[in-house]
Amino acid sequence: MSKKEDAILKLKKYNQDHIIRILQKIDKKDQENLINQILEIDLGQIMDLYEKTKKDKKKTTGKIEPINSLEKSKISKDEINKLSNIGKSSIKEGKYAVVTMAGGQGTRLGFSGPKGTFKLDIGKKGKYIFEILTETLKRAYKEYGFESYWYIMTSEENNDDTIKFFEENNYFGYDKEKVKFFSQGKLPLIDKNGKLLIGKDFKIREASDGNGGVYVALEKNKMIDHMKKNGIERVFICGVDNIMVNMVDPVFLGMTIEKNVPIASKSISKLYPDEKVGVFCIRDKKPGIIEYIELTEQMRNAKNENGKLIYGDANIVSHLLKVDALEEIATKKLDYHAAVKKNAYINENLEEVIPTEPNSYKFESFIFDGFKFLDNMAVLQVKREEEFSPIKNKDGLDSPATAKEIYCKYWNISI
Ligand code: UD1
Repeated sequence: MSKKEDAILKLKKYNQDHIIRILQKIDKKDQENLINQILEIDLGQIMDLYEKTKKDKKKTTGKIEPINSLEKSKISKDEINKLSNIGKSSIKEGKYAVVTMAGGQGTRLGFSGPKGTFKLDIGKKGKYIFEILTETLKRAYKEYGFESYWYIMTSEENNDDTIKFFEENNYFGYDKEKVKFFSQGKLPLIDKNGKLLIGKDFKIREASDGNGGVYVALEKNKMIDHMKKNGIERVFICGVDNIMVNMVDPVFLGMTIEKNVPIASKSISKLYPDEKVGVFCIRDKKPGIIEYIELTEQMRNAKNENGKLIYGDANIVSHLLKVDALEEIATKKLDYHAAVKKNAYINENLEEVIPTEPNSYKFESFIFDGFKFLDNMAVLQVKREEEFSPIKNKDGLDSPATAKEIYCKYWNISI
């Protein structure tokens, strides 16, 4: 059987006849590319995910209980010194590294390039997000006399642009040999009727599989091997969009080593019940985070006798994991969450359709979906104004303007 016949059989099996009709209308080279893609994609998996979107979903599953966090500001000076020394030794011995997840699309920001290449109007010349992150690393490592490895997760879509950007900017002075790029996986987009979308390049449209893809991506791209070979024991994993992220915090690292936990995360106190942040919890006796879209109204508003939110430890995507734990999670299957989004596609007349309403599902796993495979975790609550200033939206909350304000206030830069 020819590849084309194989592909057609597969499309029929999964009710994707519209693609068969499109196939007949495009030229040979495009046909070949599309056929190869059809043969590669796991259509069974994507159809299962689509079927799940139709089921009546309970918002939050499992037995949820609050988690206890430790407030950094309440730790005594002596203890801080002790933890800091433990952390510093580990950094100096090369046992620590940083992973930045920069594979997201930045749709909400309305910026089409890699989010890290977005320039903020800070100082005279402005500063790119990646520039700010590099400065944070360099500042810390200058103190410890050691530059750690920095693993940067990209997506297939933005990988080349990201690398080019670092090259053009001379890695902002960071040791180029210490920066490792790796790409995360992707999944097809599917419309509300269970049909795959074809883009104007005549390919099945795919998108990043969420920041939970970091485990498999690290494993597949041999980054975990690289960490082990280089004696790295713990890695700090963060997003690309928080310009105040403290990527090298010896106290946090020291605490994690002393408690000997497979994972520790930083939290901040949630400001108000509807704030769009995930919150830490214990789910079915295992550590976890409930994402804001999945938090029930009752849990959002639940308060203790002191009037504090019970689920009030907000996730700032600052996770510190043992390399062993990363390796373990990479072998597990994570859940996928469906988000309804607007995605353009071509119709059977090969005309592009740009939807005005959300028309399709994007499936993502979340990094914290992996935490349930670990036995325990420590949560260190830090100060919002010192470690959280995200850039998510074009305007309003969590926008370049608000991030700049927090950043400049902290660093005493005039606006
Ligand atoms: C995220 C957290 C949320 C937290 C909030 C704080 C997750 C899933 N959610 O929400 O709990 O309270 O930040 O700001 O972590 N990314 C990739 N590849 C992807 C998708 C995302 O690398 O496929 C990266 C993004 O570039 C970003 C980070 O992961 O740096 C967070 O991703 P996003 O999906 O935007 O999560 P938020 O909704 O911002």
